[in-house]
Amino acid sequence: MQISRSESLKSLNTLALEARAAALTTAASEAEVREALRWAKAEGLPVLALGEGSNIVFAGEVEALLLRQQGLGWEVLSQDEAHVRLRVSAGEDWHNFVREALGEGWYGLENLALIPGTVGAAPIQNIGAYGVEFERFVLAVHAVDSASGESLRLGRDECRFAYRDSIFKGELRDRVIVTAVDIQLSTRPQVHCEYPSLAAELCQRGIARPAPLDVFEAVVAVRSRRLPDPAREPNAGSFFKNPVVPAATATALSGRYPGIPEYPQADGQVKLAAAWLIEQAGWKGFREGPLGIHPEHALVMVNYGGGTGAELLALAGRVVQSVSETFGIALEMEPRVYGQPR
Ligand code: FAD
Ligand code: EPU
Repeated sequence: MQISRSESLKSLNTLALEARAAALTTAASEAEVREALRWAKAEGLPVLALGEGSNIVFAGEVEALLLRQQGLGWEVLSQDEAHVRLRVSAGEDWHNFVREALGEGWYGLENLALIPGTVGAAPIQNIGAYGVEFERFVLAVHAVDSASGESLRLGRDECRFAYRDSIFKGELRDRVIVTAVDIQLSTRPQVHCEYPSLAAELCQRGIARPAPLDVFEAVVAVRSRRLPDPAREPNAGSFFKNPVVPAATATALSGRYPGIPEYPQADGQVKLAAAWLIEQAGWKGFREGPLGIHPEHALVMVNYGGGTGAELLALAGRVVQSVSETFGIALEMEPRVYGQPR
């Protein structure tokens, strides 16, 4: 396997931030993942997994071996009249896999169409969109322990999935390389289309009883309209998580701000829309030099060209402070930050 040193990461993150990694490699098998781990150990470098860099802020030089994985496809583990169980390799492109699954007549992932990134990254933050989260499909996650090189298998419950969270962002943060995910999909069409903007899109298309393909197409249309394409306006999707607050906090806020969107959760807490809070605090469309808050979606920070990770984080800090001063709500960043400015 080829390991390159001092590699530019600009084309390997969707924010197009310029940074360098001490070393970079792509593994074409699990054996190569272990080979990379051994190489890094001998060099005294930590190993960090890198997918498509769509949820990462590179703040400067990354003193690590960044390990990418080639897509090695997927295999059917078992199938019955209602379900199919699959093992999907970590390096596969997520959206491509969603499209292929739909083509095979395996349903469930339609709401998660067009999310950038790899299959291996999907369990890390438990990707979610339009009322569906990845965890609902997971049977197990296969990984290699970065320190020992041992294989791990985590069942769904062991992954401790939650909204934009999992054990891979907690106890196992940067300690394992996910190599494959076992998932179960339905062979019988089942659709979830209650999410307001998805329901509105289907209604506008005159589709009263949507098939999975209708949901897939509607999600692709809504996303394409609402979220900027990183190829033209480099971004990392939502820059902040939607805050989940106690019901009493939400009640107090809706008293002061009658239009505030609120989403009651199963545990009695209430999810707020970070985009709404940021927009109301006056940041939507804000632009300073090469960086800004997207004019169409206040949760998306954009690098219009030449901005650095450190500058982006400084701007994000101002947004957090302003939302905190206006609403008393602490926003938490969604993307992971790697590297230090020189
Ligand atoms: P990267 O950004 O490369 O990595 C993200 C984190 O996962 C890093 O900490 C990395 O070390 C770790 N990681 C990656 N691969 C592995 C692995 N194999 N083993 C261990 N750790 C690993 N997310 C949503 O949930 N819903 C959305 O609707 C959504 N929309 C988006 C829209 C846009 C335009 C963009 C740019 C991003 C969006 N995202 C969304 C965020 C992003 O697409 C997801 O978080 C995605 O899963 C990241 O995949 P990636 O391969 O790019 O991971
Ligand atoms: N809104 C505003 N101003 C804006 C944008 C949105 O007030 O500029 C309001 C909308 O009117 C709506 C609410 O905020 O009432 C929610 O907006 P939207 O449906 O666009 O969803 P979101 O909460 O901003 C979340 C995810 C997205 C995911 C969509 C669809 C988080 C942090 N973000 O965004 O995920 O695609 O829902 O399910 O949970 C990502 O994680 O990168 C991402 C894009």
